[in-house]
Amino acid sequence: MADDPYALAREAAAELLRRFDLESIELAFVLGSGWSAAADDLGEVLGSCPLADLPGFAAPTVVGHGGELRIVRTAAGKTAALFTGRTHYYEGRGVAQVVHGVRTAAAAGVSTLVLTNGCGGLNPAWPPGTAVLIRDHINLTAATPLVGPTFIDMTDAYAPRLRDLARTVDPTLPEGVYVQFHGPNFETPAEVRMAGVLGGDLVGMSTTLETIAAREAGLDVLGVSLVTNQAAGISPTPLHHEEVLEAGREAGPRLRVLLGGLAGVL
Ligand code: HPA
Repeated sequence: MADDPYALAREAAAELLRRFDLESIELAFVLGSGWSAAADDLGEVLGSCPLADLPGFAAPTVVGHGGELRIVRTAAGKTAALFTGRTHYYEGRGVAQVVHGVRTAAAAGVSTLVLTNGCGGLNPAWPPGTAVLIRDHINLTAATPLVGPTFIDMTDAYAPRLRDLARTVDPTLPEGVYVQFHGPNFETPAEVRMAGVLGGDLVGMSTTLETIAAREAGLDVLGVSLVTNQAAGISPTPLHHEEVLEAGREAGPRLRVLLGGLAGVL
């Protein structure tokens, strides 16, 4: 990552807008584990390119995560960027790399960001396949994308207005607190119990650092988690990445309707 990650994001945004002949982009979606099937109903596809074609982006390394940037015109007539994959903090490429997509989106004019992920669930009432709106988060990575005295307010980091809008698409969507661990190992049962004691409902390995960068840039964030498995110790069986992908495949049609509906109202 360059010395000035903000300048690199501006460069990537300029290249993106030039490549697709756009003046600006209004919305961005980041698809997490299990969400790739949800990509296809967001609107009319205006174009796509490998993310790695744009300045500062690295090819994704995680099975089940795509590496494409798609530009879509939503039913509401907005221009949206769809990132079919993300860089995770556990990849060891540094926190600036993790949030480069968010900063690029912001530099391209985006004002509303939808972050999705696959996660472990603590609430036994949320079986695998349940989509949950993120109400708040706890960042246990001990990292932040911010450097220096950048005192960003994190109250309502996940915009209540956007959560209300999401419930116009699906009134049954529950809300929860997402706890990000460093990963890539899944949590121990004791860590999952700790997350619960701290007020967490969901455990995962993404999203919070991106939300911090988004709030710094002034974006409104909607976070949606897919419970792909019951978290360690709550699940009676050991966890596997394959199970995470399988839950995504099964939930695909519902996620597609949810994300398509969101694209229509955001
Ligand atoms: N823990 C952390 N990350 C995850 C999980 C989990 O149980 N499931 C999918 N991503």
